[in-house]
Amino acid sequence: MTEGVQTSQTADFTPRVFSGIQPSGGLTLGNYLGAIKRFVDMQDQAFETIYCMVDLHAITVWQDPEALRRNTRELCAGFIASGIDPEQSILFNQSQVPEHAQLGWVFNCVARMGWMKRMTQFKDKAGKNAENASLGLFGYPALMAADILIYHATHVPVGEDQKQHLELTRDIATKFNHDFGVDFFPITEPVIEGAATRVMSLRDGSKKMSKSDPSAASRINMTDDADAIATKIRKAKTDPDALPSETDGLEGRPEARNLVNIYAALADTSVDAVLTEFGGQQFSAFKPRLSELAVDKLAPISAEMARLMQDQAEIDRILARGAERARTVAAPILKQTYELIGMVG
Ligand code: TRP
Repeated sequence: MTEGVQTSQTADFTPRVFSGIQPSGGLTLGNYLGAIKRFVDMQDQAFETIYCMVDLHAITVWQDPEALRRNTRELCAGFIASGIDPEQSILFNQSQVPEHAQLGWVFNCVARMGWMKRMTQFKDKAGKNAENASLGLFGYPALMAADILIYHATHVPVGEDQKQHLELTRDIATKFNHDFGVDFFPITEPVIEGAATRVMSLRDGSKKMSKSDPSAASRINMTDDADAIATKIRKAKTDPDALPSETDGLEGRPEARNLVNIYAALADTSVDAVLTEFGGQQFSAFKPRLSELAVDKLAPISAEMARLMQDQAEIDRILARGAERARTVAAPILKQTYELIGMVG
């Protein structure tokens, strides 16, 4: 879809973006290119933008309390260092806005067991040990729908892996509207685009770049300094062939595709444009250019994150202020929801 285009299903609502990231630690280049950088782009378009550190989602799996606090603040620093302006956007952590959990409960009563059981991410995350997974992990997508709909958000930038949860969000909104005979919740549009919405491991182009990969060389962390970034790109897995001049030539070459995608996303250009420039060249020529670009874009962000992390009180003030602003949007929507469903109050 095209950003900012209103469909009939969202036309009556203020164009508003919501997205969230879990403060579970270890921000990577994948989080930056797949999420945060796109959040910054949308902030600069004709949207109200609301970005959330979803700490209530993080605790669906065990989190050490001290680590959760640190990771929440570090994620906030990452947002700001990457260009999210806490004046322009609403930036906060989820647990400071109780309306998320409150609407989440209502949606637990709207969503059907059959819908929830189809969620592939639960199956992936719970794995063979589903009996021992938390009930929260199973119910998580209903809370995610609440995160979005408590603001009547019309657009949600997410990675490919969240597409099914966005479909569930639309199903919940549709069922709620139908059950109560209203047009109250928008049918939110997912915004999935950009060359590197899915950044892959630098060691294996068929696996997603992940903070939990045992190989540190597989990922670039947002806290990496210039040397670390350059070393990891130099060592990134490639194949022996030159870069192709056209996208078709990336077929069956996952590592080459990944590095080209990363270049395109960092340079704000298309894969085609990158291949027009580098087609026919060897990785020995391409990698130094990619490294230079990555250091140029990322090293200032990691330096700024480190600086922001020195002043924890300031980060906490920003989050508290963001939560206050978020509540001014969320509280009236929760109130109307309660009225629609027949709560006395
Ligand atoms: N489920 C998302 C993830 O794991 C995080 C998330 C929670 C989210 N609530 C959201 C993303 C609302 C977009 C909108 O990445």
